[in-house]
Amino acid sequence: MVLDVIKNRRSIRKYTGEPVTDAQIREILEAAFLAPTARNLQECRFVVVTNREKLQKMADANPYAKMTKDCAFAVVVGYEKGVNDPFGIVDCGAAIENMLLQATSMGIGCVWCALMPESDRAQAYSRILEFPENYASVASVQFGYPAEKRETPDRFDEKKVTYIR
Ligand SMILES: Cc1cc2nc3c(=O)[nH]c(=O)nc-3n(C[C@H](O)[C@H](O)[C@H](O)COP(=O)(O)O)c2cc1C
Repeated sequence: MVLDVIKNRRSIRKYTGEPVTDAQIREILEAAFLAPTARNLQECRFVVVTNREKLQKMADANPYAKMTKDCAFAVVVGYEKGVNDPFGIVDCGAAIENMLLQATSMGIGCVWCALMPESDRAQAYSRILEFPENYASVASVQFGYPAEKRETPDRFDEKKVTYIR
């Protein structure tokens, strides 16, 4: 059941250091590419980082993503500007969630870390990873085998739901 995977997904910020394979990375990316995009324009772009020096620099540049230095790999998710505005950010969000769920189903932990176009963090990543001018980054997602266990909270809140019957 997809709901079981959704319930198992938690933001994981501590990793064992065990490597993942290229085939596993590919499967996670496949899930990203199958996410819906507005008008089916598929403008999302994925920068896969396994280079340890770059991962360390990314950790240093983002105080909210320090775990990047210990992850097995990170994917920076962004979109090509001008292709599907203003849907780039939401389309990337759908791709990110697909990756989180696919990784979770494979026993790989992950966390979504915001960058957002025009932010200092996005600009720093742009310098570190040499993004082209027309690339707007939305988030980095860090992946690795989990070295922490987090329980599933019960977040269902009837007060936030309106039924119009
Ligand atoms: C748009 C967005 C931005 C986020 N940015 C960060 C971040 O910069 N650093 C981080 O550690 N977690 C980040 N998170 C993860 C949230 O903190 C996390 O989803 C939330 O605390 C709920 O925990 P859960 O993912 O385990 O359910 C982000 C999540 C989203 C959706």
